[in-house]
Amino acid sequence: MRVIVESGPNEVAQTAAQFVARLVRRRPTCVLGLATGSTPLGLYAELVRLHRDEGLDFSRVVTFNLDEYVGLGPNDPQSYRYFMNENLFHHINIDPRNTHVPDGRALDFESHCEQYERLIQEEGGIDLQVLGIGSDGHIAFNEPGSSLGSRTRLKTLTSETVQDNARFFARLEDVPRLAITMGVGTILESRQCLVLACGQSKAQAIRATVEGPVTAQVTASALQFHRSAIAVLDESAASLLERREYYREVEESQRRLEQGPHA
Ligand code: PGA
Repeated sequence: MRVIVESGPNEVAQTAAQFVARLVRRRPTCVLGLATGSTPLGLYAELVRLHRDEGLDFSRVVTFNLDEYVGLGPNDPQSYRYFMNENLFHHINIDPRNTHVPDGRALDFESHCEQYERLIQEEGGIDLQVLGIGSDGHIAFNEPGSSLGSRTRLKTLTSETVQDNARFFARLEDVPRLAITMGVGTILESRQCLVLACGQSKAQAIRATVEGPVTAQVTASALQFHRSAIAVLDESAASLLERREYYREVEESQRRLEQGPHA
């Protein structure tokens, strides 16, 4: 896994936005996998700025979100569809028909999940998947113990995740216990993954993800099998990594390579 350590959350957002923007410029019809939560907010703000100030064009981009709470509709301010509309989609020139978020109010969840997987395939697969990470090491809502081959399905949230997400709800009892989520297997099929993490509360999960054994108890650790996974971390989230110095040297060499042989 490639590890990029930035000084703080703003720098993490800038670096992540550069990865997304480069892809959108190179491939205007690309398929982006998107995440919700506090971590990608800075990335989305920067993409909105790049659209407004530099004309970054999303008109032919297709998106698939990782997950959605069961029971919440698109107009519910706690739903992930609402979050995406408010923080990104309504501020860029994306075609709403090209934005996909699982439907938390689907009548038949099994067939809805199958259809979601099929749609991703029909669009040619995900080019770049943005991911946050839970304090328990989950990606999307793939809680500890999720199969590393899992596909889009219903998942019961752990009490740790319910507690972590309670800050977005008026009362702990309001946090849904069930979600539709892409599986670990779905995420591993994306062509590139960008895992973003900021803050001390993520340091343990990042250590386990990057340097620990691959285990279903830390579903993010499955990214060690991904062909192109990049972790973009701030100093706090990276603070428990043992090989930090080596990751820095790798990035230094990478920069020299990008500057060309005579720089
Ligand atoms: P956060 O959530 O970005 O709000 O910390 C990440 C996650 O649980 O995947």
